[in-house]
Amino acid sequence: MAMWGGRFTEATLAEFRDFNDSLSFDYQLALQDIAASRAWAAGLLQAGIINQQEAQQLDAGLADLAVAIEADPTLPLQTQEEDIHSWVEAQLTAKLGAVAKKLHTGRSRNDLVATDLRLWTRLNAGYVRQALLSVLRALLVFAERAGTDVMPGFTHLQRAQPVLVAHWALAYVEMFKRDLSRLDDAVARLDVCPLGCGALAGTGVAMDRHTLAQRLGFAQAAANSLDAVSDRDYVVELSAAASLCMTHLSRLSEDVIFFCSGEAAFFKLGDAISSGSSLMPQKKNPDVFELLRGKTGRVLGHLVAILHVLKGLPLAYNKDMQEDKQGFFDLMATWQQSLLVLATVLPHLAVNTEQCRRAAELGYSNATDLADYLVAKGVPFRDAHELSGALVLKASAAKVALEALPLTEMQQVSPLITDDVYAALTIEAGLAKRAALGGTAPQQVLWQLKQAQQWFDAL
Ligand code: ARG
Repeated sequence: MAMWGGRFTEATLAEFRDFNDSLSFDYQLALQDIAASRAWAAGLLQAGIINQQEAQQLDAGLADLAVAIEADPTLPLQTQEEDIHSWVEAQLTAKLGAVAKKLHTGRSRNDLVATDLRLWTRLNAGYVRQALLSVLRALLVFAERAGTDVMPGFTHLQRAQPVLVAHWALAYVEMFKRDLSRLDDAVARLDVCPLGCGALAGTGVAMDRHTLAQRLGFAQAAANSLDAVSDRDYVVELSAAASLCMTHLSRLSEDVIFFCSGEAAFFKLGDAISSGSSLMPQKKNPDVFELLRGKTGRVLGHLVAILHVLKGLPLAYNKDMQEDKQGFFDLMATWQQSLLVLATVLPHLAVNTEQCRRAAELGYSNATDLADYLVAKGVPFRDAHELSGALVLKASAAKVALEALPLTEMQQVSPLITDDVYAALTIEAGLAKRAALGGTAPQQVLWQLKQAQQWFDAL
């Protein structure tokens, strides 16, 4: 039975009900709806709308309902109620009779659903936060384990300059640190209580909304009722934070997929996280990283969807807003699961130290070091760039590395080159020079790792 049937003379059409009802997904808000209702009942007592005994009855009835939901979260799905708010009220009425009918005094499902979803978001953002911390921890361990292993660094996916593997891992640490701060920012901003704003114009009950907000653990009460019932900024903010974080996961995954390819072979996937092919017996596929990349698309889609739901809505509540939930629930679950999966698989990723080093030596990635060498001999950088390029041309025509060119051939290009050039062309020399803040020199990377570890431990 609908809770709002008084002014209706005809029964609702089954097709309309199916389309309109939200219980099949908002049942997940049961515990939040119960918590909000308990706080509201306490407020009704304080406002003199119900007496002590009624308040106690309501509170005990709601507490029992919470116990039942904890035992079986899908309990509401066994009923035909319109949404979770109707379900809670119907259950309470079945149990307590008349007193339950007083609970909805001065409130609306509009301020209630807005409150429930904020409570749910705050809780689930906490789970995502934990998962993000696991990823950060796993990356720091990976970076530490990689030690001074060196690999080619790329621009345009062309070998550019050698970098430490740890430097690569720490780049993602920086990204996930920003994601963490974006998550914390969004949670701080959503810490506002819409309950007591009624359907749109505010509650008719003399409600102490500050105490009400405190009871639910909110930092403050919403200042404007029209805004409070129709604000879903926090859904957008969390979805945007998720989208960016998933984009980082996706880029990391793309790197790993390439690094695990036969062509690169920088990383080795452990058997425990690889899948085979039904046809090709030799295959070991990085499905897990492909799925992380793929799930990113799904999360980005949810962000776009909620922005589109909201963009044309007049104030205040509109039923379009019911569309805020399914995508968002899926987004938060996908985000959390993807982070936890990444944290779990990272330890199963091994660096192929020799292959990484071999690859770092290829592709003339010490050509910049040769230019820098000439700069140190007094050649202006632009000219040094030209001379180094000419030597790359010479070496590639001879199909050898720069450091394999005999000194006499190098001196034909620049007489300033002497025997010490060979030391300058080693990987170690190239790395060691990049010791300014943020660079890939081993000492610098070690320092960056220490900084990140200290930051993490202080969280
Ligand atoms: N199921 C609704 C939602 O999720 C609850 C609010 C209903 N409000 C209304 N005025 N019909 O948005």
